[in-house]
Amino acid sequence: MTAPAPAAAATVYRPQEDTRLLIDALSRLPVRGRRVLDLCTGSGPVAAAALRLGAREVIGVDSSEHAVAAARARSSSPTWTTLEGTVAEFTHPELFDIVTCNPPYVPAPSDPADCRAVPGPAHAWDAGIDGRAVLDTLCRRASDLVAPEGHLLVVQSQLAQPERTWDLLHHNGFHVVKAGFFRIPFGPVIRARRGWLIRRGLLGAHEPGELLTVLLARRSRR
Ligand SMILES: C[S@@+](CC[C@H](N)C(=O)[O-])C[C@H]1O[C@@H](n2cnc3c(N)ncnc32)[C@H](O)[C@@H]1O
Repeated sequence: MTAPAPAAAATVYRPQEDTRLLIDALSRLPVRGRRVLDLCTGSGPVAAAALRLGAREVIGVDSSEHAVAAARARSSSPTWTTLEGTVAEFTHPELFDIVTCNPPYVPAPSDPADCRAVPGPAHAWDAGIDGRAVLDTLCRRASDLVAPEGHLLVVQSQLAQPERTWDLLHHNGFHVVKAGFFRIPFGPVIRARRGWLIRRGLLGAHEPGELLTVLLARRSRR
C-alpha cells in the first residue's frame, strides 16, 4: 500500500492497486442482478464498479464520515446507498450475494483497542500490531453478511498473513481460492516501518516489494 497523494491525504483514501485488484476480481463474478455489500467503501470505487456491472442494489459502509460523504457525493443512483458504520457493527436484515472489502491491513506499531481511534488518513491503512484488526473481524462476521452460496472478495497485503484469512474463512464454512495477486513497490508507509516489520518477522529482509492478494470465498450451502 502506498500513501495517498498529499491533496487526498487529509481526507479520504485514493483508490490504488489494491482497489484495482479487487475490482478486477469482482468483474469476473456474476454481479448482474445481485445484491452487493462493499465494506470499507472509502470514496466508493468498488461500489461504483458493482453498479456498472449490473448489481441490483449496492450498499457501501465506511467508518469515516469523510469517506461516506465522498461516496455519497459521487452516487446519484437510488440503488446505491452509503452508510457510516464499522465491519464489527454493521447489520442488515438480509444477507448479500456478494460482499467486497478492501480493509486497512498494514501492521502498525500502535495497537488501539478501537480501530476508529486511529487518527487522520492512517485510519485507512493502519490495522493494529499484526495488520489484522479489521480482517479478523471480517472473517468472524462473514457468515452474518454473505448469503449461502454467495461470495466474499477481500484484498490484503502479504504483511497481514493472507493464509490466516484463508484458514479463518475456511473454518467458518467458506471455500476459499486465490482470485488475484500483484506485487507493488514499497510505498512510504512500509518503507518507514521496514525495520520494524522485518524484526517482527512480517517481512523478509530481501522482499522486493509488497505482494497484494485477493481471496475469493464462497459460502457453502446452508
Ligand atoms: C484501504 S481503504 C479502501 C477504500 C476503498 N474501498 C478503495 O479501495 O479505494 C480502507 C477504508 O476502510 C475504512 N475503515 C477503516 N476501519 C474500518 C472499520 N473498522 N469498518 C469500516 N470501515 C473502516 C477507512 O475509512 C477507509 O476508507
